[in-house]
Amino acid sequence: MFKQLFRTKSLDALVKEGEEPEHQLKRVLGSFDVVMLGIGAIIGAGIFATIGTAAAGDAMRPGAGPALMLSFVLTGIACGFAALCYAEFASMVPISGSAYTYSYGTLGELVAWIIGWDLIIEYAVGNVAVAISWANYFKTLVSGFGINIPDWMSIDYRTAAKIPGLLENAPHILGVPIVFNFPAFAIVALITLVLVIGIKESSRTTTVMVIIKLLVLGLFIVVGFYHVHPSNWVPFAPNGWKGIQSGAAVVFFAYIGFDAVSTVAEEVRNPKRDMPVGIIGSLIVCTIIYILVAGVFTGIIPYNAMVKALATSQSEPLTFAMQYAHIKKYADLIIGIIAFGSVVAHTAVLLVFQLGQPRIFFSMARDGLLPKSFAKVHPKFKTPYVTTILTGVAVGVTAMFTTIDEMVDLTNIGTLFAFILVCAGIIILRKREPDRPRAFKTPWVPFIPVLGIISCFYLILGLPWITYLRFALWLLVGMVVYFSYGYKKSRLHKVTTIN
Ligand code: ALA
Repeated sequence: MFKQLFRTKSLDALVKEGEEPEHQLKRVLGSFDVVMLGIGAIIGAGIFATIGTAAAGDAMRPGAGPALMLSFVLTGIACGFAALCYAEFASMVPISGSAYTYSYGTLGELVAWIIGWDLIIEYAVGNVAVAISWANYFKTLVSGFGINIPDWMSIDYRTAAKIPGLLENAPHILGVPIVFNFPAFAIVALITLVLVIGIKESSRTTTVMVIIKLLVLGLFIVVGFYHVHPSNWVPFAPNGWKGIQSGAAVVFFAYIGFDAVSTVAEEVRNPKRDMPVGIIGSLIVCTIIYILVAGVFTGIIPYNAMVKALATSQSEPLTFAMQYAHIKKYADLIIGIIAFGSVVAHTAVLLVFQLGQPRIFFSMARDGLLPKSFAKVHPKFKTPYVTTILTGVAVGVTAMFTTIDEMVDLTNIGTLFAFILVCAGIIILRKREPDRPRAFKTPWVPFIPVLGIISCFYLILGLPWITYLRFALWLLVGMVVYFSYGYKKSRLHKVTTIN
């Protein structure tokens, strides 16, 4: 049994299976598309929403203050180590499934299952957080046009309970107040529809959205720069290293996504070149932008004012900074443009993650760890439509009823855990298959992967303890599912038994 749990798939078999006609996806994406998909996945709720919590802190963690810039550097470096490992894997195993697939070929079926299960947290739970944040910004944006979405249909129950009068004013059925986040559900439903129709269409949409969000963040940096008071950067780290570490653990959310591009490896024309370029390129661009945004943000608002103001309105730090700056000309227009850009940025992230999750399910089903029907490709659109719809329903419904902070923390721990396993996988595979051709090689192995493991672990330590508990529970449920289904139905299990 022990041996069965650690059975690995040969990498050749993995690549070959991706070539089976009934399981094939269309190879239509080029390297530009991949960089765009990467930036599309990375810049979203993290920079537009969570930097408020990271800089000012909350009841559960100290804030980083102006040292938020350092938090971004720390997290960027940790992600850089992991990105180098992801790039080696993606160029070597160019088939869909991301870390799940890589670990199947290296660390064995049990670990692969754990990662696949864990990736649901990164992609699906992450998207729940982004959808909720999208809804916040969307509500503010349309209110600028005089359209007011009622509170009871744009918030979750627990957040509503903290706002005086909200539950009382909501409609009641049999004495129970009706409260749910409809816009969060609606955007996920719309995106699911786009993805069922086809990947090329959706990646083109992503490109347009990426350009818009880069322009909008550029606008924030340039306009904000003229309103920075360097005295606001003192004291630089009001809560010392603790604040910097917990800030880094929160803004990690802003970096998630560079790895998501590896899930479309099967749909890329030249994966050996395009995958590393896409993953590392998009990460570098985003790190530079984030440090600039953090510098401007903390330079506009003094730390104490930030703590006071963001305690009640953490969802829109960038527009808040613009208001705080008291811009003399076109202030409303600039704030409106930033709110609009934020909605667009969130949409792009949703698109990429809703694209990635079904492909992981698809790979797991192809291996027999999930029901076969999950691996069905649509006869006309050539997309994994069963898993796309399933993901859409799960994310959309959950987003109606949950709070954003809890979803962000859970996403971060799940993703950091997956990064750690990917880094470990690189070390193992270099030992086990040193001669396998690698279009891209992680430099200084095992030094870089080990640094990746240590730095991701350091970020995990910056998260609130309740997150550890939720994550452990999630893994436990995963174990139950595996031993009652996947273990017996695995394609590899059948092969081992027949032989
Ligand atoms: N990095 C993504 C975001 O910030 C998940 O929205």
